[in-house]
Amino acid sequence: MQTNLKGKHFITTQDWTVQELETLFNLAKNLKLETARGTFNHQLEGKSLGMIFFDPSTRTRTSFEVAMTQLGGHSIYFAPETMQISHGEDAFDTARVLSGYLQGIAVRFCKYGAGNRYLKDLQKASRVPIVNMQCDIYHPAQILADYFTIREHFGENTRGLKLGVSWTYAPNYMRPLSVPQSLILLMPRFGIDVTLAFPPEFKLMSEIVKTAQENAQRSGAKFNITHNMEESFEDADVVIPKSWGPWVHTQKSEEGLALIEKYPQWVCDEKKMALTKSHSLYMHPLPADRGKEVTPAVIDGPHSVVYQEAENRLHVQKALLSLIL
Ligand code: CP
Repeated sequence: MQTNLKGKHFITTQDWTVQELETLFNLAKNLKLETARGTFNHQLEGKSLGMIFFDPSTRTRTSFEVAMTQLGGHSIYFAPETMQISHGEDAFDTARVLSGYLQGIAVRFCKYGAGNRYLKDLQKASRVPIVNMQCDIYHPAQILADYFTIREHFGENTRGLKLGVSWTYAPNYMRPLSVPQSLILLMPRFGIDVTLAFPPEFKLMSEIVKTAQENAQRSGAKFNITHNMEESFEDADVVIPKSWGPWVHTQKSEEGLALIEKYPQWVCDEKKMALTKSHSLYMHPLPADRGKEVTPAVIDGPHSVVYQEAENRLHVQKALLSLIL
């Protein structure tokens, strides 16, 4: 177990060793039990987390704020348009100044090609940990909750479990690549076999896929890519079907939305769930586009653990903040 994590940044799970992540998951389990008992350890008393949201959020904002409250600390919500960021104050000065007041700086910035770069710029100047609340490349806090939920159902030894990560049809806007990319990076490190499915135009960033393949090779897990949604469901213990935009193929919104419209049949329905194991879990980070990417019968059905998964955001983030702030 690794205990010297104070001050550690959290931009991607890739920067954390398996041992460090094990510490976090063990602590999250204890904190969840404490929450169930209604007892809260105020170990972050007097500490403040600043949270800058360039993009909207329901779960992430609420779960991080509540995490700070339950740990005895304080959180501050910043909308960039109310900060001097809107007048062009750069990441260096923002991080230097804020890290004189705060014990942690959390950021959501999903703009393709800009979000992760901004987080890294903050990291260079900050004297306190930078926490990624979702960028264009990673959504590490979501994936902590996803893996924690899988452990709750299957136990701590997740080696050999089969996970299907699939693109789904969801219109109206191009969702970030961050969830599928973070899933394929983390899950093989814990021995989970991953099958990733998407239509040809929806490929993920090549350097992320390469790292995911290396992670799988190192742990002995399997990592397959297919353009057939059903294949990712066959014999799966867990499926996480969700939409993302064709960012690598095109960053033009009109072109991207038209590409999404080519694949309305990529929906998670009962027929596809029937291909999975009888005990399988249906997971989704939410918000889900009900009736488009998933049928109500699945998301409200016996395989679905989406609300447990959403609640677990709170518990893993409490563990994260306890360890690094
Ligand atoms: N899953 C997730 O990050 O939800 P929000 O966008 O509501 O924060």
